[in-house]
Amino acid sequence: MEIIKEISKMKEISKLWKRKGYKISFVPTMGFLHEAHLALVRKAKELGDKTVVSIFVNPLQFGPKEDFREYPRDLERDLTLLEREKVDVVFIPETEEMYPSDFQTYVEVTKLTTGLCGAFRPGHFKGVTTVVLKLFNIINPDIAIFGEKDYQQLQVIKQMVKDLNLDIEIVAHPTVRENDGLAMSSRNIYLSTEERKSATVLYKALLLAKELINKGERDSQNLKNKLEEFIHSFPYTKVQYIEFVDPLTLEPVKKIEKPVLCALAVFVGKARLIDNMLINLE
Ligand code: PAF
Repeated sequence: MEIIKEISKMKEISKLWKRKGYKISFVPTMGFLHEAHLALVRKAKELGDKTVVSIFVNPLQFGPKEDFREYPRDLERDLTLLEREKVDVVFIPETEEMYPSDFQTYVEVTKLTTGLCGAFRPGHFKGVTTVVLKLFNIINPDIAIFGEKDYQQLQVIKQMVKDLNLDIEIVAHPTVRENDGLAMSSRNIYLSTEERKSATVLYKALLLAKELINKGERDSQNLKNKLEEFIHSFPYTKVQYIEFVDPLTLEPVKKIEKPVLCALAVFVGKARLIDNMLINLE
């Protein structure tokens, strides 16, 4: 496994691979890897001839009051895990090389980013699309894998790829969960033992939404009220949003008549956790 820091070196290797006709698959990450990242890596290995994983905690996608500084980092452990997966290249650029002092170009998907997390994290998706496009340009992958836990991010990236005519296949990977249903996330490390117990409420709330819809509830406001009450019955929780949206446009749905995405953002202690579920009508 090769560890590359310089953008020019990464571009060189990728060009060489392309000349040899290799299919490059790519998994972008912010490090502090867990089983869900490794599942994406395994998928990438299955789909491509050469696999690149990037580790870069992207300052552009954090708001001024968010956890950029505290975001968990453990490069040594990450590299051990990736070596075990037989990744070909780990790309770890320096912030100064990604964003030199005269950096001034951004890419923004406008509509899909207005609701859900976008409503509470201004500039977040602009930071995500800008860094992901830069990584795509540097690595030049044929395939890139994203997890469905960050459902809005996945849709936003797909839209960017479509709008900007990028020749990259975006592959969605299902959310990987702990045994008790909690979606795996690097931010779960922020949870105390007691908060960790409460954190299972996100998945339980999604299952409750599914059950209520299957029993005939079609009014999303009624569903939101019931879910909010349920979530707040668990200690340390504070709902940021509960939304029922169209799975493609992410527009809010008032009356549920076709498959709907239920998406949640909940603070458990200081950890802001998100989760979602696509609910089909039975
Ligand atoms: O999902 C993430 O970890 C990040 O948003 C990504 C895609 C690596 C961009 O920084």
